[in-house]
Amino acid sequence: MSHNDSVTKIPDGFEVLAKSEGGVVVAIRNEKIMALQFHPEVTHTEYGTDILKYFLQTAKIKLQPQTNITQKIFNEVNSTVEPNEKILCAVSGGVDSTVTALVLTKMNLPTTFVFVDNGLLRHSEVKEVLDIYKMLNIDVNLIDAKDRFLNALKGVTDPEQKRKIGTTFIDVFKDFIRDQDFKWLAQGTVYPDVIESTRIKSHHNVGGLPENLELKLIEPLKSLFKDEVRVLGKELGVPESILERHPFPGPGLSIRIPGEVTLEKLEILRKADRLFIKALKEEGLYKKIWQALCVLIPTKTVGVGGDDRTYRYALSLRAVVSYDGMTVDWFHFDHKFLKKVSNLITNNVSGINRVLYDITSKPPSTIEWE
Ligand code: XMP
Repeated sequence: MSHNDSVTKIPDGFEVLAKSEGGVVVAIRNEKIMALQFHPEVTHTEYGTDILKYFLQTAKIKLQPQTNITQKIFNEVNSTVEPNEKILCAVSGGVDSTVTALVLTKMNLPTTFVFVDNGLLRHSEVKEVLDIYKMLNIDVNLIDAKDRFLNALKGVTDPEQKRKIGTTFIDVFKDFIRDQDFKWLAQGTVYPDVIESTRIKSHHNVGGLPENLELKLIEPLKSLFKDEVRVLGKELGVPESILERHPFPGPGLSIRIPGEVTLEKLEILRKADRLFIKALKEEGLYKKIWQALCVLIPTKTVGVGGDDRTYRYALSLRAVVSYDGMTVDWFHFDHKFLKKVSNLITNNVSGINRVLYDITSKPPSTIEWE
């Protein structure tokens, strides 16, 4: 439901089709127009798809049978890129960029792959990601840009400002390219990134590149939702273990540490996140969850350790279920599991003495805390 505006007076010729429990008008129509005050397209709208189908029927719009996703994406890339134009493709080990990389590889386009270690990755992630691409026979250049990113983040506390360190990626690409004649930069942007970047958070990397980079942006998956990317990935032979990986944001752990990002906080968060994700996998819960993460709350609270007083950070666990990441519900864990994770973290991560579980859906909150 969009709560910012509401109907106070029905326009002439319109009838009210539905009201909310609180008496707010949520749907009206006249002979030609139907108007809704809520989102029929999101997963959590019961019968949303039926509403859309009814609209199409009433408007006498025929649905075209869906063309094969792989063919559609290949055609789109073909009509954009000349076969000899060189492409630089940034990969992260995530589903979106891995599927993008495979599209370009399968199309035999001259592509160079880079993976940037920005110092904001999870525990052992560099090795895991390189192993994934080795398994897929994709040759990836690792760029160590840890210091560059951490310096750019020094003293930065504003979430939107943190996201702007995306420009550091551009600087890193520029240095890598030097005088090689790349024409394109390929990225795994998906449709929700495009929608949400203009609405909610400025994902730095959506919607264009600075002119001085002299590269054109190609985003083959830009029209797909995550579930469609997974279908495409499956068709291209991406192993299940990669397709199942939870999404991980470009600005990495920096947007899971509200306030200033420091090496100390990153280390604490990495250790806790690793324990949480490992426990989810051990209990067979990882696949049931759309995305799980930890957030280091930058407030120290008092606790006890042995016989002594401790003064350490609090940590929040977050686990959500969703279809597309646009609307989410929090995952209902068994209390025993929460107890196990809480003990694991407070016993093994010395910087934390308090563990919380985030029980907020999206909306009103978002998945990430920043
Ligand atoms: P939110 O927090 O907006 O997240 O509900 C929706 C999905 O997007 C990811 N996310 C980002 N990805 N740059 C990215 O590349 C960002 O700045 C960013 N912020 C959120 C988030 O992890 C989730 O999968």
